[in-house]
Amino acid sequence: MKKMLQSDTRSACVLVADDNEDQRELIAEWLQQLGHRVLQASDGDIALELLKDNEVDLALLDVMMPIRTGLSTCEAIKSDARTCLLPVVLVTTLQDVDDRILGIEAGADDFITKPVSKDELLAHVRSLLRIKFVTDELESAETVIFSLALAIEAKDPYTEGHCQRLSKYSEALGKKLGLADDQLLALRRAGIVHDIGKVTVPDSILMKPGPLTPEERKVMESHTVTGEKICLPLKSFRLVTPIVRWHHEKLNGTGYPDGLKGDQIPLTARILTTVDLYDAMTTDRSYRKAMSIEDAFAQIRKEVDKGWWDAALVDGLEALLADS
Ligand SMILES: [Fe+2]
Repeated sequence: MKKMLQSDTRSACVLVADDNEDQRELIAEWLQQLGHRVLQASDGDIALELLKDNEVDLALLDVMMPIRTGLSTCEAIKSDARTCLLPVVLVTTLQDVDDRILGIEAGADDFITKPVSKDELLAHVRSLLRIKFVTDELESAETVIFSLALAIEAKDPYTEGHCQRLSKYSEALGKKLGLADDQLLALRRAGIVHDIGKVTVPDSILMKPGPLTPEERKVMESHTVTGEKICLPLKSFRLVTPIVRWHHEKLNGTGYPDGLKGDQIPLTARILTTVDLYDAMTTDRSYRKAMSIEDAFAQIRKEVDKGWWDAALVDGLEALLADS
């Protein structure tokens, strides 16, 4: 029995897993006629092995396979961060309603009923590949934004590692406060991209050792609005964008860019601001040395008294740091 067959074609790579060799070969032939590259697996474990070494665009899995079933394979694909966006089609018999329910629970994107019709299969493949390619493009857009944000951070040797720490501690503080997973993901992303708008701020202002003039300050403060504009087209950044715009607001309305007050500032933005303050104070900057943790919290609490920051979040961050 052939475990794997590769046929080179132009765009998509489709993984076909089925213990029935005739059925597998037939499906592979149809896909190859369309110009797709096909990888074949005779069971789920082989399919997972192939996924480790190949860039696959779509997986067609027979539900009934020995050793590892299609359902179990689908579950493994969807629970692995590297393959969770890979579309999976389960091939099942019409009578197996339970398989479909279990398949949906396992994260399957689509189902094809046996006996498989060529036209139906190719229609499903076409539509899922279209979605896959759009998802790939979105992923690339996110990658570009993250790379740009890290490139901006790298310009200033004093802020090295700031974004990663901000990402980690903002998410941890959000978790401590019981925020939902999508908000935690937004905090993780915002930690990296919050200052992306600095891309339009000249280096002479960005790295000026002394105090900024009022005009220079205006340019510097524009990074919040520019950052929002950069992130806005990305739907997956829906919860990140408000954090980017409002991470320099103050509770008493004296922050920028909008002078929001209290609860008008989203909780996620207030969380990032709190961590940002702390991290900025406890690391060396071009214009001053790092403060000790105690001095930083003493300074932040003075500013809490001025009505700038959220006392509960400052307490939460201090407790988080004490626990870690
Ligand atoms: Fe900022």
